[in-house]
This record gives sequence, C-alpha cells and structure tokens, in this order.
Amino acid sequence: MKKRVAVVFGSRSVEHEVSIITAVQAMNSLDEELFEVIPLYVSKEGAWFTGEALKTMDAFRDLAGLPGKAQRVQLQPFAGKSTFVVQVPHRGFMSHATDVEPLAVDVALFCNHGTNGEDGTMQGMFELLGIPYTSAGVTGSALGMDKVFQKQLFAAAGIPVVPYVSFSRRAWRSSPDDCLRDAEQHLQFPMFVKPANLGSSVGITRATDHDTLRYALEVASHFDRKLLVEQAVVDHREVNCAVLGNDDPMPSACEEVFSSHAFLDYDAKYKVGYKTTAGSDSGPQKAEARKVPADLGDDLTHRVQELACRAFTTLDCRGVVRVDFLIDGSGAVYVNEINTIPGALSFYLWEAVGMQYRDLLTNLINLACEAFEDRRSNIVSYDVSDILRLGSKGKSGTRKV
Ligand SMILES: Nc1ncnc2c1ncn2[C@@H]1O[C@H](COP(=O)(O)OP(=O)(O)O)[C@@H](O)[C@H]1O
Ligand SMILES: [Mg+2]
Repeated sequence: MKKRVAVVFGSRSVEHEVSIITAVQAMNSLDEELFEVIPLYVSKEGAWFTGEALKTMDAFRDLAGLPGKAQRVQLQPFAGKSTFVVQVPHRGFMSHATDVEPLAVDVALFCNHGTNGEDGTMQGMFELLGIPYTSAGVTGSALGMDKVFQKQLFAAAGIPVVPYVSFSRRAWRSSPDDCLRDAEQHLQFPMFVKPANLGSSVGITRATDHDTLRYALEVASHFDRKLLVEQAVVDHREVNCAVLGNDDPMPSACEEVFSSHAFLDYDAKYKVGYKTTAGSDSGPQKAEARKVPADLGDDLTHRVQELACRAFTTLDCRGVVRVDFLIDGSGAVYVNEINTIPGALSFYLWEAVGMQYRDLLTNLINLACEAFEDRRSNIVSYDVSDILRLGSKGKSGTRKV
C-alpha cells in the first residue's frame, strides 16, 4: 500500500515563497511507487488548502486567485488510528457543514521555512493531531529558530560560536545608550545585528560604527522582541553542512557559498541560489554561487562535519537540517546557525555523496515514522491502579499517542 504523504508548505513567514519552491521540488521528486502526494498549502493568511493544482508552480503565480483552484481543508484526528483525516468541505449549492470528504494521510513532509512552520508551531499541531512529521520536534524546532538560545546551548556543549550580546526590545526602547555601551564594550566593529527569530537575512544589518549600530538595532527591533549583536567574522568563508538522522545522525558533503555582497542578504540568497534537479523549472539556476563539495581539505571538512553532527544532537534535531558555519582567515570554525527545515531540504548536499533526492525523501519519511513510533512507546497516561502497580512491581501503564 502506498503511504499518503501530506506535503506541508507556505504559512505566515517571510520565507513563504521559498517554501513553495522547496515543496514543489519535493512533490515532483517523491518516489511514486511508494508514495501518494497530498499537497497541504497554508496561505499567507493562515488558510489551509489541498488539490492537484498545488503540485506545480503555476498555481502560485497568482496567490489571490489560488482559492478558486484549490479546496479548503480542516485537519481532524481519528483518535486511536494510525491514519488521520483531512476534511475537504464540498463547495457549491446545498452543501452542509457536515458534507466532508475524509482524506487520510499517513505522514507529513514539512517544507515550511521560518515562522509558523519551522519554529515548533506546526510541529506542535501535528503532535496533537497524532501524525508523524519529518522535522525536529517542538523543542528542537523552537530552539533552531532562536539564534540566542542556539548560541547558549552550543557554547554550553563546547561548540564554538562568535562572541555576542543580546537584549530585549524593551531594554532597547527604554535605555538605548546602555544597550549600545554593552555591545561596544564586549564586541568590536564590524558587528552583525539580527532579530533572534527570523530568517533569510530579513532585519539583519552589518554595523561598522556607533551610528550604524544604533540604526541596525532600531531596524531589528521592528522584527522581534529579542535582539542579537554578533562580532563579525572578517575575511570569512561561509560553509554549510547538512545532517540526516534521528538518534544516530550522519553528515552530508560540505558546500561553500560565495557572494559579491558584504553578506548574504535575501537577494544574494534567492536571486542566485541552488541548482535544481533535472527537469525542474522551479528554482534559480546560478550554480556558481556555491561549490559542492567545498574546497576545505580533509581536516577542515571533518571538523565541520563533526561539529554539524554535534549541533544536531545538542538541539535534539530529527530528519534533515543544515548547519551553517563561518570560518575566519586563521581557519577557526564557528557555528553560525542551524536551519531545521533547510531550503530545498539540502538535497544537493546529499546528491554530492551519492544519495538521490528521491531517496533522501524516502529516508526522511522513514525517519519520521520511526521517531513517531519511538514517541508512541512512551507512557503518557496512567490510571490509579497503574501507579500503584508501578510503585510495587515495576513498569506498567497505558501507552497512548
Ligand atoms: N558574525 C558574522 N560574521 C560575518 N558574517 C555574518 C555574521 N553573521 C551573519 N553574517 C552574514 O549574514 C548572513 C545572514 O545571517 P544569518 O545569521 O545566517 O541569518 P539568516 O537566518 O537570516 O540566514 C550570513 O549568511 C552571513 O553572510
Ligand atoms: Mg543563514
């Protein structure tokens, strides 16, 4: 029996459009012998849709006209069963709220990037629905979105990160001079100012002096309530490495990303970008923006791969992630950030080590189902007699999703 795979994408995020590209590529690459694809698109307003039309880029060229080409859905769990239901209300004259077409899905392939998808919120919803999904869980996803929590945990695990300071928007608004002094006492120019939770370089500014630092903090404060100021790594190289697995992760090839900009801003990332699989027309094509495998030599490659796996484990990740590094002129390696649902699911980094995109997706789905079974084996509900038995004889209890 083919597994029904809900491909979840879009949602309220500055990376909405990038997510559409990731999803369309994935839907066209899933193994048709093993899987049936159910697109699950979340609009920028937060409405959920499904339908055949959502499998190609054409449906998304006119977002305002999309509701006419797709069906609205609501998600409802069938408690106690391993498949779940997407309700598709019939449209048209004489339809009733109870007229629904149940549509079971076995597993969700997450292609969301950024807020309301990569940050733990979607993961929480699918936990409650009881549907296996292909990303880190609620905690790992939330930590993966927060650049400050990440750094704190990486530093505690002995993973090198650049020096930084962080403060709240409230502190910035009430005493900006104290915040500026804090940054200037602990760090040297140039610095990078970032909202703690965002992505695609939105709200990020490189500050070269007191005045640009003030401006950069003002900009970032419009995007998040937590602000991060980092020491810039000068003459840096940017290297990324993906990691795949659950409890026993493995690293991909490394890539080096090049840019003519002072840093990789939104345009540099997406107007150049990744090479797509053969036959796909959905992505930007300027492949010289990245080199896979990166020219690092064996020692540096192993160091990056080892740190990438440690970063994955430190944040309790699952599925596929991409860990981004900054390497300075002396060869010192810093973890810059982790992306728990990376652009294009980093398929090109796996192709470079001989894993085809189709097989990466199959692996991801198998890992999601394994992780789901593992969670399901936890005891989550007791009645009084179970507790008494546990106290006297040892392990017992009811297992529920
Ligand atoms: N500390 C730093 N030193 C040098 N360049 C940096 C630093 N932090 C960020 N950058 C540059 O800014 C880009 C975006 O920053 P990043 O933290 O990766 O944010 P995003 O989540 O938006 O991708 C990076 O790809 C890099 O080019
Ligand atoms: Mg980045």
